[in-house]
Amino acid sequence: MTPAGPEPDPQRLLSGHPAGDPLPPITDKHITAPGQWVLFSPDLTAAVDPWGTTFASNLTPDDTGIGPWTEAQFLKAIREGKSKGMDGTRPLLPPMPWMNIAKMTDEDLKAIFAYLKSLPPVKNVVPNPIAAGM
Ligand code: HEM
Repeated sequence: MTPAGPEPDPQRLLSGHPAGDPLPPITDKHITAPGQWVLFSPDLTAAVDPWGTTFASNLTPDDTGIGPWTEAQFLKAIREGKSKGMDGTRPLLPPMPWMNIAKMTDEDLKAIFAYLKSLPPVKNVVPNPIAAGM
């Protein structure tokens, strides 16, 4: 985070919320009306509000990211909002706007998947989401 806003970190591009990074405390000063604001951590990889706390996923082609994913899994994750793009998994949570991205063409989604697979792999086990009120 800089005075002008967040700067991309090329070493950690799209690798999700850094494992082990503690979230700053949330105080009444930040939430004047609980449930009416959405808070983002300064690096924009964690978001908090009515649904709980979510962490941006590791989308790099490491084993801890989308390394083992097939293209079909990626399409399922985006089109059906399924974590890991598999049946029987939990729904993807906000702020991931999968309902909007789901409207992209197969061609565009396949191009995004190919791009993600071309990134340098970053080892980072992103924390699971935390239910609201925990
Ligand atoms: C073209 C744009 C995008 C693509 C291709 C994309 C792709 C993905 C994929 C495949 C996952 C699931 C990873 C997994 O199951 O392990 C995911 C999760 C996530 N994305 Fe996105 N995403 C996009 C845009 C965004 C935007 C704009 C935001 C935030 C404003 C966002 C926030 C998140 C978060 C927080 C998660 C974790 C959700 C959860 O754990 O339930 N994504 N994204």
